[in-house]
Amino acid sequence: MIKPEIIERIRQETDIVDLIGSYVPLKKMGRYYRGLCPFHTERSPSFYVSPERQSYHCFGCGAGGTAITFVMVYEKLEFPEAVRFLAKRLGIKVEEEHFSGENTFIYDACEKAARFFEECLVKSTAAQRYLAERGLSANTVRRFRLGFAPGGNLLRGAALRLGISEAGLLRAGLVVKRDDGLIDYFRERIIFPIFSVSGRVIGFGGRVLGNGEPKYLNSPDTTIFRKGEILYGIFQAKAYIKERVPILVEGNFDLLTLVEQGFNNVVAGLGTALTPAQATLLRRYNQEIILCYDGDEAGRKACRRSLEVLFRAGIDPQVVVLPSGFDPDSYMRQMGKESFLARMEEREDFVAFVVDGRRLDSVSAKREILNELTALLRVMVDDTSRELYINRIAEMFKIDRVRLDNIVKTGDPARDKASTKRRCGQLEEKLVAAVVLEKEFARIAYEFALSEILEDETLKKIARLVEENWKKDDYGPGLLMDLAEDDVVRSRIAQWTFPDFMELALPSIDEFRNRVRRFRSQWLHNQIKVAIENGDEIRAESLLKERNRLLKDI
Ligand code: GTP
Ligand code: MN
Repeated sequence: MIKPEIIERIRQETDIVDLIGSYVPLKKMGRYYRGLCPFHTERSPSFYVSPERQSYHCFGCGAGGTAITFVMVYEKLEFPEAVRFLAKRLGIKVEEEHFSGENTFIYDACEKAARFFEECLVKSTAAQRYLAERGLSANTVRRFRLGFAPGGNLLRGAALRLGISEAGLLRAGLVVKRDDGLIDYFRERIIFPIFSVSGRVIGFGGRVLGNGEPKYLNSPDTTIFRKGEILYGIFQAKAYIKERVPILVEGNFDLLTLVEQGFNNVVAGLGTALTPAQATLLRRYNQEIILCYDGDEAGRKACRRSLEVLFRAGIDPQVVVLPSGFDPDSYMRQMGKESFLARMEEREDFVAFVVDGRRLDSVSAKREILNELTALLRVMVDDTSRELYINRIAEMFKIDRVRLDNIVKTGDPARDKASTKRRCGQLEEKLVAAVVLEKEFARIAYEFALSEILEDETLKKIARLVEENWKKDDYGPGLLMDLAEDDVVRSRIAQWTFPDFMELALPSIDEFRNRVRRFRSQWLHNQIKVAIENGDEIRAESLLKERNRLLKDI
């Protein structure tokens, strides 16, 4: 680990205008600098840099962050490498220290458990036979560190010998508490370790041997593992997907079979719909992606939903449609690599995918399809792509391209409402923005446990980050953006560092305290109702006490 003092120094000594200005021409505009966004193509500049806050934000594609994150994204580096890059630029020597953070023992438990599952695979002929039947070579098994979790509570039993603490097992989600003690979470399953981008084991997937329910089980979310923020295979794929367009599949075996056939540019979801955080993670490596989902209706639906998420992240997706009844794994194994490659060649853009097989012979059918297409055009952040697609669609539907352009620009009223809500924010967003910008407000957020009472997931994450870090000397949006593991979180914070665009007038301390207090008391009011409905008198009682105390102060 690089010493925090060094990181702090780099944060202080790097001039972000200077740094970004060496990549992109910037022009001074009032208190900010402005230029064409380096992360998506655009005609008129919507990329801003704030010397005051040492931050950047693109109001077009949502990219945002600090000097360090800029280097991470632009130079495609991991955090420590980006820090070294900036240090070198400043002529600062980087000292390392052995770091033991509070998550160390969870990482440790995951790593040791992964090794244990690998050992168990070597001992289980049944599990080895299963993997061989599914066509996986020893090499792929080793590279992805596949393993086997036997029945019984063998991991729990071996913990002492392996040097895994009970707390480690629990916090990693590897055991579950039952009345009669701790039991293993994964039993009689093929184990797929899930790696962080930098290659540490952070969680696991487990598949039953043969048939059984549930077919797959994933580790519960932990402090180091959040399903919505990582992709299966990203660590192994990352060296390839800068040069080659990544292929996104649904299943673990889809991925492994493709890898087995020499496709190294494959990643898979973790059984959930593609999230914005996963899309921005992919955007770090490539602006394009090929979706190769299952060939059934569910696969097509999942695909349609992913398109929107990808467009919002500035990615241009293409789609490979497999015949119904096939997934990439079964297609590859039954039809062969040549045939799969041919399918890949026939991949289509989103227009063809949305239109695919639907009749265009009535006005109402056309209008319905056109509505779907314009909805997607509207969320596209890349100006050039949007323009090209508009041309294509106008030609296809024989309508005037200027008119289509206008339909896309005016948008439907529902969406406009949603976007203003996101921009100037409701109460929740205003509170969190203030807390991020000023330490004094952060202290108040901590005092009233603000994160607990927020509804919006992203704001909740930010508030938690604030509560964990507000005491630090270099507290501020810069520190928080560097610490954020989630691009969505970072982008939100970056917006707030441009108050001219956000209508963000900061209140006085007293006013702020009162707002938070009222907000909490409203929340308590609702919680008390819920507690009473659930017959939880003890909780209702204690909440009521807190509320009375709060009201006395207002
Ligand atoms: P095989 O049947 O072994 O070929 O599985 P697959 O890799 O083709 O997976 P499938 O298409 O059935 O599912 C896609 C992905 O969704 C899996 O890799 C899992 O990550 C996830 N998934 C599937 N079934 C379940 C389930 O029952 N529970 C959970 N949590 N995830 C699941
Ligand atoms: Mn399958």
